[in-house]
Amino acid sequence: LDNGLMRTPPMGWLAWERYRCDIDCDNDPKNCISEGLFRDMADRLAEDGWRELGYVYINIDDCWSSMQRDAQGRLQPDPHRFPGGIPKLARYLHDRGLKLGIYGDLGTHTCGGYPGTTLDKIQTDAQTFADWGIDMLKLDGCYSNATEQEQGYPLMSKALNATGRPIGYSCSWPAYQGGLPPRDKRRLTMAVNYTQLGEICNLWRNYGDIQDSWDSVLNIVDWFSTNQDILQPAAGPGRWNDPDMLVIGDFGLSLDQSRSQMALWAIMAAPLFMSNDLRTLNSEARTILQNKAAIAVSQDPMGVQGRRLLKEKFGIEVFWRPLSNSASALVFFSRRSDMPYRYTTSLGELNYTAGTYKVFDVFSEKLLSPLSDSTPFTVSINPSGVVMWHVSPITHLGQAPHARGGEY
Ligand code: GLA
Repeated sequence: LDNGLMRTPPMGWLAWERYRCDIDCDNDPKNCISEGLFRDMADRLAEDGWRELGYVYINIDDCWSSMQRDAQGRLQPDPHRFPGGIPKLARYLHDRGLKLGIYGDLGTHTCGGYPGTTLDKIQTDAQTFADWGIDMLKLDGCYSNATEQEQGYPLMSKALNATGRPIGYSCSWPAYQGGLPPRDKRRLTMAVNYTQLGEICNLWRNYGDIQDSWDSVLNIVDWFSTNQDILQPAAGPGRWNDPDMLVIGDFGLSLDQSRSQMALWAIMAAPLFMSNDLRTLNSEARTILQNKAAIAVSQDPMGVQGRRLLKEKFGIEVFWRPLSNSASALVFFSRRSDMPYRYTTSLGELNYTAGTYKVFDVFSEKLLSPLSDSTPFTVSINPSGVVMWHVSPITHLGQAPHARGGEY
């Protein structure tokens, strides 16, 4: 969506995966969906170095609202859990250089059973969010049919635009329509159309919900890789595929698996929304999530999504993303479960053009010796882990990275 927002994948924090629909503030005050939770996370983003790295969104998900609309038909937050109201929470974030996202659902109810946004309520809700100072809307799609979605998602895009407030727009539409365009090109209506999505949404969930497990991460990576020929061209500045939240810092991933999620989400040009407890995050998770080189790959200004280049029979996969200034990122990913695998290849075998390259290892944070395209190298990849490289051409002796022969 060409609204000037999210020219690189948005970064921040989103409540859902870790906090779900915990509304029991009497017994679980620190973790329930309430203004206190969002203020706590905002404090952490602002004070623990996250904001400076680009993590600026704090996003409310489902279960924030009251069970009824107000007398004017507007959505309203649960009064016990958000006694200060949403505008005050938005101000709290804005004062700290952060942005506030909220959740709605195109349909009769949200997935959690709270009031939904039916077609007749779209304008009201867009205006309410704008009046509150909201910066991003995730519009889910439970309890609506394909026809309503085909009308509602573009209508909300227009309604948000008409408020005059810049509001990032996340559409769950494709996730409710199988995530893929129809095989039969004659069946054009009511099916996923990535050209249209790029015109009306800044990001979109394509696939099922992530859970706090390695199985879930793998399932998502496999679906996005299998369908990359359709998904990869759909992404670009202002329009991103969304494989869902980062679960790094929760309970389900090992250290190596956490690095793998960070690396693969950066390659996929995915939004980086953490869903974890920033108040108690361990230092390993923090180091991974705050890795500057991985974030630089994610936030590359050219905004081209990467792809899986290779899927070796023996369980090694190679991912690649082109970056600005002729640089690129490589991820060597192991699906094995035996021991660190020593994988030998060369940049030439990975389709790099002739030349010498500077290689920075993202997670060991070490610059390797310059590497020529023809020189074989070996990386040691841990089980369910990655080796991630930032690769850039070295210009030397008057030889440009893509030197035209005979000009010197
Ligand atoms: C759906 C969405 C999730 C979350 C829940 C909330 O499952 O895909 O991301 O928003 O609804 O109920």
